[in-house]
Amino acid sequence: MGLLTVNYCNLLFSSVILVEMTKDDIISLPNDHLRQRSKKVGVVSDAVRKLAEDMQAATLDWEDSREHEVGVALAGVQVDELTRIVVIRQDFDDKTNRNFNVFINPEITKFEGEINEDFEGCLSIPDVYGKVPRYSKVRVRALNLQGKQVRIKAEGFLARVFQHEIDHTNGKVFIDHIKDKPEAYFRLEADGSLTPLDYEKNIANNAALWE
Ligand code: NI
Repeated sequence: MGLLTVNYCNLLFSSVILVEMTKDDIISLPNDHLRQRSKKVGVVSDAVRKLAEDMQAATLDWEDSREHEVGVALAGVQVDELTRIVVIRQDFDDKTNRNFNVFINPEITKFEGEINEDFEGCLSIPDVYGKVPRYSKVRVRALNLQGKQVRIKAEGFLARVFQHEIDHTNGKVFIDHIKDKPEAYFRLEADGSLTPLDYEKNIANNAALWE
């Protein structure tokens, strides 16, 4: 689905036709790339902007396939591009607003406020939700799509999203924060409800999550 775009790759005398990314381009555990650090973007080029667009398309395609969830954000590694790019939905409450902000080389410069636990899910860990402790406020520095530096003061759910996504750029997933917390894990049921997971069976002894 989506637009068909022509992309001339930099091999001499050759070109390829690439279809916009879909949910099938999103990788999930077990995949050791999800535990690797992504590389910094040097120059914000057209290829970087295209990747950001692809990531948004993949997130929205995923959301369209999920009845009870919103695709809130995605990091480059999740489409198997180990590049420090994060896309975050502009409006978390209004699903009909399908616009994103793009953050390149995002870094947290300060953690503030108190530590709160709340539910998080991840497009790369289907159907598992966790109650993850995060700071209530963070300050973030990044580049925008024009390569200009931006600084953001985030709080509440946006602060949580930045911490989750910047973790991805550093090879960390949310379950790594709650590895030894049996009561922190939940499964998303077909009816949209969350029920506690059997920690020993589904989490601690689930090699796919930890390899
Ligand atoms: Ni995630």
